[in-house]
Amino acid sequence: MTQQEIIQKTAEYIKQEFSNDSSGHDWWHIYRVWKNAITICEHEGADPFIVQLAALLHDLDDWKFNTSTDETPLRAKAWLDSFSLDPFITDAVCRIIMHISFKGAGVQNKMESLEGFIVQDADRLDAIGAIGIARAFAYGGYKNRLLYDPDSPPQLHDTFEQYKNNNSSTINHFYEKLLLLKDMMNTPTAKRIAEQRHEVMVQYLDQFMNEWEGKDVE
Ligand code: ADP
Ligand code: NI
Repeated sequence: MTQQEIIQKTAEYIKQEFSNDSSGHDWWHIYRVWKNAITICEHEGADPFIVQLAALLHDLDDWKFNTSTDETPLRAKAWLDSFSLDPFITDAVCRIIMHISFKGAGVQNKMESLEGFIVQDADRLDAIGAIGIARAFAYGGYKNRLLYDPDSPPQLHDTFEQYKNNNSSTINHFYEKLLLLKDMMNTPTAKRIAEQRHEVMVQYLDQFMNEWEGKDVE
């Protein structure tokens, strides 16, 4: 099978697996990450096969939707093992998937390859801006969270345990993660794109707070 055919088969598999999601992790999230990762990859000069496989498979074993505590992305590995790939490629893709997720404001990023930096950036670009806002509220609804609770201020988490067990409002998620992502982008290409998307969120939050306090109702 050619690399192109493997990518195509993987995209079809993932499209089917993620067709029914209402948490902001649907196929179109994966599709945007895939396409944006390809564009960033062209700018940064990394291996497009590894980047594409990791982008397509990156949420298949996500901790938010799987109970397994095993760090190895078992479903992605099983899928990759169904092709006769060079073990180096399977290993590189699995390592990216293991380290892609944000795990708390104070938790160190363990990503180590250029391909991983690119896929992580593409995933994080989809968490900010207009789409990031939509996805955050979709996830909040999926998790039965309040939109905003002025009595519960945001917290910056130092451990993954704290971050994972946090149940606070979706507005808090902006302060606990989304507004931090601009300065956490790995590649110059993504840093540039993140600036404008970040501004959209800042303006949105400003308007949200004005309306919350009725400042525009005079
Ligand atoms: P990551 O693996 O870094 O979490 P994902 O692709 O799985 O990245 O998507 C994360 C997205 O899920 C966030 O950007 C946000 O839209 C949503 N999300 C995760 N946790 C929360 C939360 N506590 N409140 C609101 N949205 C959340
Ligand atoms: Ni994702």
